[in-house]
Amino acid sequence: MKKTFALIGAAIAAIALAAGAANAQAPIIIKFSHVVANDTPKGKGALKFKELAEKYTNGKVKIEVYPNSQLFKDKEEIEALQLGSVQMLAPSTAKFAPLGAKEFEALDLPWLFKDDATYDKAMKGPVGKYLFSKLESKGITGLAYWDNGFHMVSANRPLLMPADFQGLKVRISGSKIADQYFRLVGAIPQIMAFSEVYQALQTGVVDSCENTPSNYLTQKFDEVQKHITVSYHAHLQYAVIVNSKFWAGLPADIRTQLDKAMYDATEYTNGIAHTENEDALKEIKAKGKTTLHYLTPAQIKAWRDAMAPTYAWAKGRVGQEVLDVVAKELDIKMN
Ligand code: LMR
Repeated sequence: MKKTFALIGAAIAAIALAAGAANAQAPIIIKFSHVVANDTPKGKGALKFKELAEKYTNGKVKIEVYPNSQLFKDKEEIEALQLGSVQMLAPSTAKFAPLGAKEFEALDLPWLFKDDATYDKAMKGPVGKYLFSKLESKGITGLAYWDNGFHMVSANRPLLMPADFQGLKVRISGSKIADQYFRLVGAIPQIMAFSEVYQALQTGVVDSCENTPSNYLTQKFDEVQKHITVSYHAHLQYAVIVNSKFWAGLPADIRTQLDKAMYDATEYTNGIAHTENEDALKEIKAKGKTTLHYLTPAQIKAWRDAMAPTYAWAKGRVGQEVLDVVAKELDIKMN
């Protein structure tokens, strides 16, 4: 009898130990959702973060990457992050208005950054820091900025002068600043989720869109737009963001390793963004489904002049404070 009790006791202890071990080994799951293809700077960045985060934490964290709007579309993913049903996102900063952080839209001003280096310096410096501070009160923490270069714009007719935009229904991703600069050239902007753009262009629900070469190529926009202008009129960047409560609740040593993985993944992503887009543009050209147009200096000036009132208009939308931060960093006059 005594022996039986001892055996039962030992069995219970063994089960408890096994359960404890299984528990200790159960990885922390981080769902990382985004809307673009794997074969883009952001897609590759997310996979690099997964690789490094799992390596640096010795498998204590598992990153589940969901590309192509598999889990959520644009606006839904932001809501999901706030509700805690997804832990990490990298939305374009043009989509931050639902977070109550309209200041991010200042980055969408036309011809704001004269080149990649200027953009990079601003985001690593005061502009990037200032914008992340605007997320704190929203329960969101900004971890990094990921680059995706400059926008082109397209339609089924050549877009060479501002008048060419007259009456075009242009899909935009969310920013009221983009809404404004397209209105100034006579277009009719319409916000639409990224995953719906191809079909909307194909069926004529919209006539036109703007995006970077890597997004054009991977979404096959070049197959449903006869003319693309390589205008590089505005910049596309992402903020990698997490739910603050979730992030603060992680064990400190794990968070340190994840920060390191994010730092390295960011260096990687921003290091490939320019070349990825150049290669995508070459591929679009080689495919030959669309005609590429490059603007002359006079045409660029005409676009810039037509869209310039966006700068004065922006004050009422994003506020003077962010415009001052950006103007100081870039050494430009805003309005
Ligand atoms: C878009 O909606 O056009 C972009 O924000 C997609 C992306 O995330 O690159």
